[in-house]
Amino acid sequence: MCGIVGYTGFKPATPILLNGLVKLEYRGYDSAGLALAARNGSVQIIKKVGKIHNLISTVKHSKISPNVTSGIGHTRWATHGQPTDINAHPHSGCAKGHRFKSQTDSEVLAHLLEDELKKYPVEKAVPQALAKIEGTYSVVIIDQSKPDTLIGARSGGGALVVGLGKGENFLASDVSALLAYTREVFYLEDHEMVIVTPQGVTVLNLSNGKTVKKQVAEIAWTAEQAEKGGYPHFMLKEIMEQPTALQDTFTGRLDPSTGKVILEGAFWSSPYLKQFKKITLLGMGTSYYAALVGKFLLEKYLRIQVEVDNASEFRYRNPIVDKKTLVVVISQSGETVDTLTALREAKSKGAKIIAICNVMGSSVTRESEAVLLTRAGPEIGVASTKAFTTQLGAFWLLTLHLAGVRRAMKPAELRKKSHELAKVPLQMESVLKQTKAIEKVAKEYSTYFNFLYLGRGFQYPIALEGALKLKEISYIHAEGYPGGEMKHGPIALIDSKMPVVAIALKSSSTYEKMLNNIEEVKARKGKILAVIEKGDKEARRKANSVLEIPAVAEDISPMLSVLPLQLMAYEIAKLKRREIDQPRNLAKSVTVE
Ligand code: M6R
Repeated sequence: MCGIVGYTGFKPATPILLNGLVKLEYRGYDSAGLALAARNGSVQIIKKVGKIHNLISTVKHSKISPNVTSGIGHTRWATHGQPTDINAHPHSGCAKGHRFKSQTDSEVLAHLLEDELKKYPVEKAVPQALAKIEGTYSVVIIDQSKPDTLIGARSGGGALVVGLGKGENFLASDVSALLAYTREVFYLEDHEMVIVTPQGVTVLNLSNGKTVKKQVAEIAWTAEQAEKGGYPHFMLKEIMEQPTALQDTFTGRLDPSTGKVILEGAFWSSPYLKQFKKITLLGMGTSYYAALVGKFLLEKYLRIQVEVDNASEFRYRNPIVDKKTLVVVISQSGETVDTLTALREAKSKGAKIIAICNVMGSSVTRESEAVLLTRAGPEIGVASTKAFTTQLGAFWLLTLHLAGVRRAMKPAELRKKSHELAKVPLQMESVLKQTKAIEKVAKEYSTYFNFLYLGRGFQYPIALEGALKLKEISYIHAEGYPGGEMKHGPIALIDSKMPVVAIALKSSSTYEKMLNNIEEVKARKGKILAVIEKGDKEARRKANSVLEIPAVAEDISPMLSVLPLQLMAYEIAKLKRREIDQPRNLAKSVTVE
């Protein structure tokens, strides 16, 4: 949660920092601030409650020294203390005695540091101060006595990336803030501190003070990928990118001619893949729902026990996991604290960990034995869309690969499925073309206050995901349920004011049961919006409105059936004039508990 950026070099720092904050705004957007250091050692702090544009206009109207070539910036998602100008970061010491200005816990560090700076230079004062604090953190510090030196440090907190330039260097919570300036980066590990000057960077281990050598990586993402590209919202751009994103997930890995899956890294051919006895899938939010689909796939084709757990629940209950358990963690950002801590818990019990993740170099990827990158490209909209469908694509790769290794599927069957999968990106395009139909449905349904989403089998996680999308960005109350569960309680809610979104696909083994659900809703004057297969006259007749997807195999359909639900949530949120890319109270990656 929150985003930090730092710059030291030869260029004016203010626009670089503000631009970095704009790119990081998805991480938190209730207040933001800058500490700008001029070469003469004066540090100017500007902080403003609200979105970054408030800070930008405050900066525009402030007198900034022309010699500011270093500084730090922060965009906040409040944990301790309400969103106010004063509680916005960066925080500073107070020169005399210790008077706390804000209600944030972070300010404590500024005062501790102030004491240490009386005894040591900043490079030594920072580890001394950090040794006195408990808990997780990720910090960037600037000291006015050395204005072109930035210190970054982390222990258990969100990621901190160091970006390398020529005569200039950068720090940021994630690479999106750096893409316009450099693609050469490395990540700080836990208990590491970095001293960043325009001339170079030095990494030290916080526990023993020894220098650490880092491996520099080149980021594959481009600056353009992190722009809206003509779309009004990142979310819409990311929805529309799904055919290409899924194609990227499959490219070079899925070979329909042989049915083989080619994955990078030694782990994928290790004997362990034949030996594990159980699979546990862990994730949060949308990634958790992707894991539910993953369970159905893995169980169907491997005939092996698969458990799915919400990562935040898993870690607190002494889970049954051992070295015969293959644990798959699913995370778009790779920084979700619940997922990361669950990963560590599983690892400590001897499990082998695979990460399905979108961000190479993120904490989850660094701590896993093997990584299946989803290759969705940067996802900026807070509501996950392309991350989800590419996670489903990654689950297919995992399933087919394991099925091949364990001989759980015949070669002909593997080839058949690979062929079907290779067609999905094009089928996605056809679904995404239905914008007019979706706009019409959105208009019709945007005035309701409550929604029930129903699905069975492979469509149950899609009902959950559809409901999550609607509530996240439109603030309409929506719940997802397995269709069979409706009679056991939720049916009491049904009346003419409660629309039901029913995913009723003819390819599904529970199609008839879903039609029964639809009848039961109608009998209680409920309104039915159904996601159906193209040409399904029966379901069309029963529903009040329909959204169509092409007829595909039941196990492939989640990658398509989720698309109209994403678009409908988007259109309803647009009609309600919501802040679609940055919904209230949310942040893109949840790095605090
Ligand atoms: O980065 P992660 O995939 O680990 O994030 C997990 C959830 O926080 C995330 O999926 C969240 O539910 C999204 N806002 C859903 O749209």
